[in-house]
Amino acid sequence: MILIGHRGLAGLAPENTLASFRAAAAHGLTMVEFDVRLSKDGVPLVFHDDSLDRTTDGSGPVAEYGWAELSRLDAGSWFAPAFAGEPISSLEQVLRQCLDLGLSVNMEIKPDRGREAETALAALSLAVSVWPHAAPPPVISSFETVCLEVAHRIVPLWPRAILAEDRPGDWRQMAGQLEATALHLDHGALDAAQIAETMAAGLAVRAYTVNDPVRARLLQDWGVAAIFSDYPHSS
Ligand code: G3P
Ligand code: MG
Repeated sequence: MILIGHRGLAGLAPENTLASFRAAAAHGLTMVEFDVRLSKDGVPLVFHDDSLDRTTDGSGPVAEYGWAELSRLDAGSWFAPAFAGEPISSLEQVLRQCLDLGLSVNMEIKPDRGREAETALAALSLAVSVWPHAAPPPVISSFETVCLEVAHRIVPLWPRAILAEDRPGDWRQMAGQLEATALHLDHGALDAAQIAETMAAGLAVRAYTVNDPVRARLLQDWGVAAIFSDYPHSS
């Protein structure tokens, strides 16, 4: 079972920052997940919340600020004083650093409402221009079907994963239409039968966010291909 660092390695460094990706590599992880959204002026950046309040010294919706303003914020002090001044990173900066560190990536597209196709198009266009053909392609996931449809159309050879808290009722049909290779599901809603059924349909199951090593071992026994974790020691 693979351990995918969640938002870089969010338990040990401020989530989704370059420091978090460095922490993942330093702890021997081979793959990381991160969240992509857009600035007001359409720059893809790596940030989880739709608001700046929790993880920066700014406030208000991310989408109300241009990249120039966002890039000057402190996204590290909230986590620990040692990370003071750690900035929000653009998608381009994160992809280039992951390449330098030899990390495989799961790019979760997390659009603001009404910007689903725009966010997917901007994120994927940027990723295609940065990511080398020879490297294992990014896994593209999203809670928003529209984003996966855009990925299917413009990067058909990059693997797609349907992201959901609970497995959707029409998961087989969705996976068929999107030619998805995996479901990324909240581990709390998973059980052995559901995993076996999903795997029998030819889809991998990756479970988020698993920070309890006992739970991680159980999921592994049930056949989960990977877990997303904030810590390096969950499997
Ligand atoms: O992609 C897995 C996981 O990150 C989904 O939930 O809210 O942490 O982005 P969230
Ligand atoms: Mg995420």
